[in-house]
Amino acid sequence: MKQIDVWFTVSEVQGIVKTGGLADVAKALPIALKDKGLSVRVVMPAYRSVPDIESCPIVLDTELSYWPHTPYKVRSAEFNGIEVFLIDNDDFFNRPELYAEHNRAYADNGDRFAFFSSASLDVLPKLGLKPDVIHANDWHTGLVPFLLKVRYVSDDYFADMKSVLTVHNAMFKGVFSADELQSIPELHVSGMEHLQYGYGYISMLRAGIAYADRVNAVSPNYAMELMTPLGSHGLVDDFVSRSRDLYGILNGCDYSEWNPQTDVYLPKNYDASSAESVAEGKLANKNALQESFHLPKRDVPLFGMVCRLTAQKGFHYLLPILSEFLRNDVQIAIVGTGEPEMANQLHNIASQYPEKCAFFEAYSNEYAHLVEAGSDFFLMPSEFEACGLNQIYSMAYGTLPIVRTVGGLKDTVIDFDRNPDDATGFSFSDPTPQALLICMQRALILYLQQPDIYKEVQLRAMSRDFSWSDSANEYIKMYKNALM
Ligand code: GLC
Repeated sequence: MKQIDVWFTVSEVQGIVKTGGLADVAKALPIALKDKGLSVRVVMPAYRSVPDIESCPIVLDTELSYWPHTPYKVRSAEFNGIEVFLIDNDDFFNRPELYAEHNRAYADNGDRFAFFSSASLDVLPKLGLKPDVIHANDWHTGLVPFLLKVRYVSDDYFADMKSVLTVHNAMFKGVFSADELQSIPELHVSGMEHLQYGYGYISMLRAGIAYADRVNAVSPNYAMELMTPLGSHGLVDDFVSRSRDLYGILNGCDYSEWNPQTDVYLPKNYDASSAESVAEGKLANKNALQESFHLPKRDVPLFGMVCRLTAQKGFHYLLPILSEFLRNDVQIAIVGTGEPEMANQLHNIASQYPEKCAFFEAYSNEYAHLVEAGSDFFLMPSEFEACGLNQIYSMAYGTLPIVRTVGGLKDTVIDFDRNPDDATGFSFSDPTPQALLICMQRALILYLQQPDIYKEVQLRAMSRDFSWSDSANEYIKMYKNALM
């Protein structure tokens, strides 16, 4: 069989622009697929924040062949050996951010990503590209599978193409008023009930779920959860009706970025080859972290957390018990931006416990690496988590993750008290602050009372391998299945 040719359409790519884990996957998965011999090209919007965007050559200057014939240019770039095409339209993408400013989404996000989804397909014949698989990701490109099946249904050029949708976070459904989305006239034909989301509204994610040839969630457990009323974010019928075509494929870890042995952000590199290297490296990085975060430089158990400040990440479990936990001789370092109310509460607690709790309100890749390396435990008490990547990075850095047993967190972390011989971290399941507090205390007890066992668990966590190669094999199986 000839090598599979993939057109990967996505709204962000790590190393180019990133707001979340979606970008990490969009960088690493195409590389892993290419390493397996597939041909992979990526298409994304040409945001102004793409570094050196103006110097990326324009390879096409055109307009949508379909109404509303929006003009656009296509720029090309090579990134880690992958060809990336950037869809350039000033009205939609020449602005400071990707999706939102000051925590408020751009009012025309529906139009912006409807346009991008249209252009992702419009451009194919114009560039002479005929992929086998169109791989869409999340709501931003959820219309792509829909357009492939509806707009291009009788276009021979597209006849053999199949589509796949990867669901990274089904809470974001891409809900917009159908009237606003004039640029997708197909939305107004009859029979579109499986796209609707309330009267007069459509969900771009629903469009993708309904029309993609195959759908996958980014972990096996999230795929299961999506088929339950509790875990489906309201889309249980949509996912259940696709259950035969629904896959769960665990994300991998990009060890070229997340490896304590080579990490360029760390003051001291270390590796799992010896307990001494780990102990020395962790201590040096802990001290650097304490210095950067203005915490006293002491050898106390340090709990790190890096994430968007949203309810999804479990702040409603953490905030009510944080002061109580800080009565222990511990330190906590939190990095992130997001909802102002959560940021305020974190600033308050940090100012009450300046010796113990530091909150750095920023999105900082450098600090994300330092927190992973300098902490003893990493907090991820998520309400839900499609896969989660930070817990995987944490394990690679010998920082034991403390997670709630949801989504991919459940698939990746083994709890110490439940399974001491295989443990790689700590987990709890009740969605309550108290359950989190108990879990954090269990972690603390291990650290203080059984330091040798803590070190064993740490080395075990570091030796776990979540490389993208295995995940890429699963994606290839799904592609082959779609192409059968
Ligand atoms: C989203 C999910 C996260 C997942 C990431 C990459 O950010 O919330 O759980 O790891 O996408 O798939």
